[in-house]
Amino acid sequence: MQLLAVESSCDETSAAVVDDLLTVRSNVVYSQVARHQPFGGVVPELASRCHVEVMMPVLEQALAEAGTGWADLDALAVTRGPGLASSLLTGLAATRALALRLDLPLYGVNHLQGHLHSIYLGKAAPSPEQYRSTLVLLVSGGHTALVRLDHDGSTHLLGQTLDDAAGEALDKGASLLGLGYPGGPAIEQAADGGDAGAIPFPGPPRMKASRFSGSLDPRFCFSFSGLKTALLYTLRDRPELREQGLADCAAGYQEAAFRVLIQRARRALEEAGPFEALACVGGVARNRRLRELLEHTAAQAGVPLLLAEPEYCTDNAAMIGAAAVLRRPQLTRPGDPLDAVPNLAVDA
Ligand code: KG4
Ligand code: ZN
Repeated sequence: MQLLAVESSCDETSAAVVDDLLTVRSNVVYSQVARHQPFGGVVPELASRCHVEVMMPVLEQALAEAGTGWADLDALAVTRGPGLASSLLTGLAATRALALRLDLPLYGVNHLQGHLHSIYLGKAAPSPEQYRSTLVLLVSGGHTALVRLDHDGSTHLLGQTLDDAAGEALDKGASLLGLGYPGGPAIEQAADGGDAGAIPFPGPPRMKASRFSGSLDPRFCFSFSGLKTALLYTLRDRPELREQGLADCAAGYQEAAFRVLIQRARRALEEAGPFEALACVGGVARNRRLRELLEHTAAQAGVPLLLAEPEYCTDNAAMIGAAAVLRRPQLTRPGDPLDAVPNLAVDA
């Protein structure tokens, strides 16, 4: 089976051809970063216009790189949420039209499920049946969550951020430090050679049950707003740090954000298991320091660490294809209404 998957939930336009053995035959990603850079963040209206502009060339390139024609496809998949409404609609409109024209089934995929299934892509990836239960730390620009992923593809949300996502905290921190957008890679680069202990930043916050945590255990939930405020006040009180202490500041801020992630992941491994593996997915999982900290955490817990390959960490259509292939029975059936759901939950 050959499936063409499309991702357009935020500022990447991507198309991939994936087969039922999860071989990625092509994965084309058009990043709009340069278009949003002057504004310091994603401008939704600009993003959707850009998706419309590049959608067909990206789809055609994905087919060409896979050596496949339209007539060779067996199914289509598209991200239906969560994400920016106007961006999601461009992918949905394109794939709906193709599904009608080619008379193919179209599967609507949860973007977050796509990130979770990114651990199954690539040559060194485990098979979905290999581990009965995996603790996945999902860290992207819009989401931060701890999820139990079972070998049958079912998911259970254990905890999530109650304010900013980890990637968002890095993006906003980078903006305060004058490092530009996207902030995660900029902070990682600026932190190189910095002393993470030179400038004090708050440790992981204690969380209490509230209307924000709902039925989730607050001890597995995240918050980054205090850390962001700490950086704001540090720079207000010590403006000279922008010039003389930038590397230390970036390293300290990044380390403090990652301490929150690691503390919660370790706690979930110990208390919410049993888990046979620890995994990390999403854009922030590209970070080398985070990968190092996770290696240590997994080794201490005596479980293997599954890291999505860097190209499958940031938004891409191959992961949407993987989720569609593995979750086909649970997904929207052909003919079912398929709408954009901007606030779709991770386990919906
Ligand atoms: O998964 P993703 O591509 O998009 C969302 O679904 O949100 O993640 C984007 C996020 C951004 O916040 C970006 O700053 C962060 O991932 N990111 C990184 C790195 N590369 C991307 N954060 C830390 N270190 C990196 N190397
Ligand atoms: Zn994403």
